[in-house]
Amino acid sequence: MCGIVGYLGDKPAYEILVKGLHRLEYRGYDSSGVALVSSDSKLNVYKTRGKVADLERFCEEKDVDGTIGIAHTRWATHGEPNDINAHPHVGRSGNIALVHNGTIENYHVLKEALELEGCTFKSETDTEVLVQLIEYIKEKNNCSLVDAVRGALKEVVGAYAIAVVDTDEPDTMIGARKSSPLVIGIGEGETFLASDATPIIEYTDKVVYLNDDEIAIIRKNEPLQIVNSDNMPAAIDIKTLRMSVSQLEKGGYPHFMLKEIFEQPRTIHDCIRGRVASSGDEVLLSGVTEHKERFLNAHRVVIVACGTSWHAGLIGKRLLQEIARIPVEVEYASEFRYSNPVLTPDDIVIAISQSGETADTLAAIQMARKCGAFVYGICNVIGSSIARATDSGTYIHVGPEIGVASTKAFTGQVTVLTMLALAIGTLKNTISKETRLQIADAIRALPTLISQTLKLNDSIEKLSGIYTYVHNFLYLGRGYNYPSALEGALKLKEISYIHAEGYPAAEMKHGPIALIDHELPTVVIAPDDEMHEKIISNIQQVKARGGSVIAVVTKGDTTIKEIADHVLEIPKVPECVSPVIVSVPLQLLAYHIAIKKGCNVDMPRNLAKSVTVE
Ligand code: F6R
Repeated sequence: MCGIVGYLGDKPAYEILVKGLHRLEYRGYDSSGVALVSSDSKLNVYKTRGKVADLERFCEEKDVDGTIGIAHTRWATHGEPNDINAHPHVGRSGNIALVHNGTIENYHVLKEALELEGCTFKSETDTEVLVQLIEYIKEKNNCSLVDAVRGALKEVVGAYAIAVVDTDEPDTMIGARKSSPLVIGIGEGETFLASDATPIIEYTDKVVYLNDDEIAIIRKNEPLQIVNSDNMPAAIDIKTLRMSVSQLEKGGYPHFMLKEIFEQPRTIHDCIRGRVASSGDEVLLSGVTEHKERFLNAHRVVIVACGTSWHAGLIGKRLLQEIARIPVEVEYASEFRYSNPVLTPDDIVIAISQSGETADTLAAIQMARKCGAFVYGICNVIGSSIARATDSGTYIHVGPEIGVASTKAFTGQVTVLTMLALAIGTLKNTISKETRLQIADAIRALPTLISQTLKLNDSIEKLSGIYTYVHNFLYLGRGYNYPSALEGALKLKEISYIHAEGYPAAEMKHGPIALIDHELPTVVIAPDDEMHEKIISNIQQVKARGGSVIAVVTKGDTTIKEIADHVLEIPKVPECVSPVIVSVPLQLLAYHIAIKKGCNVDMPRNLAKSVTVE
């Protein structure tokens, strides 16, 4: 939630900051702003409601001089999205500017205390309280900016990643973090700050991930310094990024979402590369082999995640139970963290997160670790907070996901969970060699099978025209594909704003069947698997009540073709890998309906890609 960028160097800061904001826009896009320290040490702050493109228009005639600056793209938490609540916020002298990602939980108390000292506030934000507090401490103690920032952060309860500049110290930029990500890019005579590495990558591949409670002191012509909250120097661990600029661009597609859907043959190839031996005998997940005993002796697995990652977790439950014969619970991280869960050191907690920054998932991990459980992460973003907070884990390696609706990350997560189940099943000897080879073959075939499934794109585009203006959708699935129904419904509602519900197909008759009429289309996920016969009767129940049915079926399924209104044929695959294939037509259906409705699929309203607040 919210993206921040900072630059200090010799180049004009504005262009770098705005370009960085475009890269971070997936984190929030209801307002944006920039603060520049000009060459004559004046602070120019420009901010406006709307997207980064609106900020660029707003700045067209403005003085954007300066080689030091900070910038922000916002996802509103405190205060509505408007020009005043947009970041950067400035202290009352107009000299200090600050951008912030996170929430200051005790901002009311701090605000009241500052008001008693004569401070007045322009915005409704928690962030303005922080910048005023910094300025108040600086004036009262006559101290440097970094000392004032450190003093203010000691008073703060909550989560933050901040970047601060001050015209009194025009060659300094301060960054700090607690529970919200902040990356420092180290270039030749220039330093960058950003919420993730995407604004930095084209200037340098050398980065430092700031840890909680650390403060970065960035000064012109001086090496980077990092101190902890007690002002003791902290280690500077420089990492090399493995990411390319082309991964962050649309590559000829009209939207990131479509690019990411079409990338899946390659991303799944990257995800399984070097992990499923060609003999099929072995699944190599170093996170498992290095902690073999933990996996062999685990009594239970608890999966924690949010949103789409939670849906992947539900599929993971089936996989782990069936293949590795281990009891699994799947929890929303946001509920789990407040549920006083019973966890023991014999439990394995699997945290799934594309961004690796989701606040609830991170809090669930911290709780699990306190209870002594072994925590295994399944993340996409390398070096993210969750990746670093877990004992071990597996990256899904699908590359940066920019579209706000998760697509390739979901299929990557499910693929990793399949490999994980296979690795643990092999360790525990809970599956036969024959089944192992069969599943390994199916995993290796996924890229080709996804390519074949993507050929449905044109027919789905046509089909979407029929359903563009419906108000509700029902998605039904069973077994492995009940979570696929949930995920299909989530994709549709988040990008097209059409209400959609996912349901286990057999549960329909216990309530939702009352909704069915000729105005409610139902998407039924009905591949040729163990549940096939049963799901045919579910389709008949819908048809008998005048509902229309779009069925996702295995190629050659003539029975369903006769009863459903439309069929989307996918290749034949073993049941346990079918959710990966099934998700492709569901992603395309949501995409095309949303496009026909004129929705912004890459930046749907009210959403942000990385949910770093509660
Ligand atoms: C939906 C979507 C969200 C995320 C959720 C968790 O398309 O992207 O539901 O899945 O916010 O995010 P991560 O996986 O980053 O923890």
